[in-house]
Amino acid sequence: MRKVFIGGNWKSNGNLAFCKKHCEEVLNKISFDKTKTEVVVSPLSIHLSLVKDLIKNDIQVSAQNISLTKEGAFTGEISAIAMKDLGINWTILGHSERRTLYGECNETVANKVIRAEEQGLNSIACIGETKEQREKNETMKVIQAQLQAIKNVKPDWSKIVLAYEPVWAIGTGLTATPDQAQEVHNEIRAWLKKEISEKVANETRIIYGGSVSDTTAGDLIKKNDIDGFLIGGAALKPAFKKIVEDSKKI
Ligand code: PGA
Repeated sequence: MRKVFIGGNWKSNGNLAFCKKHCEEVLNKISFDKTKTEVVVSPLSIHLSLVKDLIKNDIQVSAQNISLTKEGAFTGEISAIAMKDLGINWTILGHSERRTLYGECNETVANKVIRAEEQGLNSIACIGETKEQREKNETMKVIQAQLQAIKNVKPDWSKIVLAYEPVWAIGTGLTATPDQAQEVHNEIRAWLKKEISEKVANETRIIYGGSVSDTTAGDLIKKNDIDGFLIGGAALKPAFKKIVEDSKKI
């Protein structure tokens, strides 16, 4: 049985006061069974240590990105080595905002998966199609190219959570319906079975992201191939507690 995975992506939101309030009033009040559920929140890099110290339960803390480079003369970059030193075990990679606003291509994302893995970090690797690609029936073609790039670098799949985030659903209020999301998750799992192995297909968590809220999470999690969520806007609100508590596999 795959553990439910709930990620909260805070993006470039939150200040010191928010971190303190959100940890004390929301995150520390969430109760979940860590043998069945994993919860990871991803604040700004400069808040990682603070949030890690403020959290008093089993919620883990994740980076939102790491650099492709290691230590050295790379002004402004934060390496996986530095994240590991800080005690961070997770990083989001290839979020659509990184792909579209900062030019990260499939190969860059795949190479970052390896950078993370080299330091023992787990990756939440984001994949998903744009509205135009969906309308042209290219959803699986786009996703397969994103997955193929990761396959090409021969990663340790046990350290990867795949986040299916249709770009048209991120921050728009347009959540994929449970059937739409399940269809793609099922095809991603079929790809893993064919291209990697049955074991990897059975064990890899495939989570959904894109305008998930406390009103939509309950129906999405009922679908066989939806193993959890990557949550943006609602992760900054008290709704995050309800989403975690409602996200149980029966
Ligand atoms: P959203 O963001 O929940 O605000 O749509 C999800 C994400 O970008 O990971």
